[in-house]
Amino acid sequence: EKKISIAIDGPAAAGKSTVAKRLAEALSYVYIDTGAMYRALTYCALQRGVDVHNEKQLMNVLHDTYIELKPSPSGQLVFANGENVTEAIRTNDVTNNVSYVAKHPSVREEMVKRQRELGQHGGVVMDGRDIGTHVLPHAEVKIFLLASVEERAKRRHEENVLRGIPSDFEQLKEEIARRDQIDSERAVAPLKKAEDAIEIDTTSLSIDEVVDRIMRIVRERV
Ligand code: C5P
Repeated sequence: EKKISIAIDGPAAAGKSTVAKRLAEALSYVYIDTGAMYRALTYCALQRGVDVHNEKQLMNVLHDTYIELKPSPSGQLVFANGENVTEAIRTNDVTNNVSYVAKHPSVREEMVKRQRELGQHGGVVMDGRDIGTHVLPHAEVKIFLLASVEERAKRRHEENVLRGIPSDFEQLKEEIARRDQIDSERAVAPLKKAEDAIEIDTTSLSIDEVVDRIMRIVRERV
């Protein structure tokens, strides 16, 4: 059976990582969370007091930072220069700054280079914003996951409550909408559905239903 590449793109909190992880598990593929890479850089930059609008300084940090994504039974672990930053990259501070970091052309160029290296042998499920359009333009399966802002904020809110993290629904809605706007309006590789991507609106679908739909598409192409 051929090992293909699967690109999962879409706006913030649309369920991309949950679905991508499940697909990777079912297919014994590697899951690559590209958002975690931008988050890891953002975390390291904030730690060093680097301004997220300063492209040159961010590039210095990036060149100093070895980012690793390691599969684990609980999902995926993220390391920056050997430090486990899995939890640290999900804080509000990182979430609300990452889209500024991800706007810079040279940052994206270096990240895309690293992501292509990780995906070069196929057998990958990669999620992000520009995977189908830029990182893996030849991916055999491209999915664009959508859901209303209301629904995405609701899911994130419930997730936070379950984890015992303080959470404000209205604030989440605003933050998600703002991140989508920055990601969609940036000059380089904005959030956009690839022409050959299959769009799935997950607003009224369960995770299982989304995974099933994508697995059916995958089976037609391996
Ligand atoms: O997927 P996640 O929400 O963790 O991504 C965090 C941020 O990283 C996004 O809001 C976006 O600014 C950036 N990103 C990106 N391109 C990708 C993946 C993420 O610009 N391929």
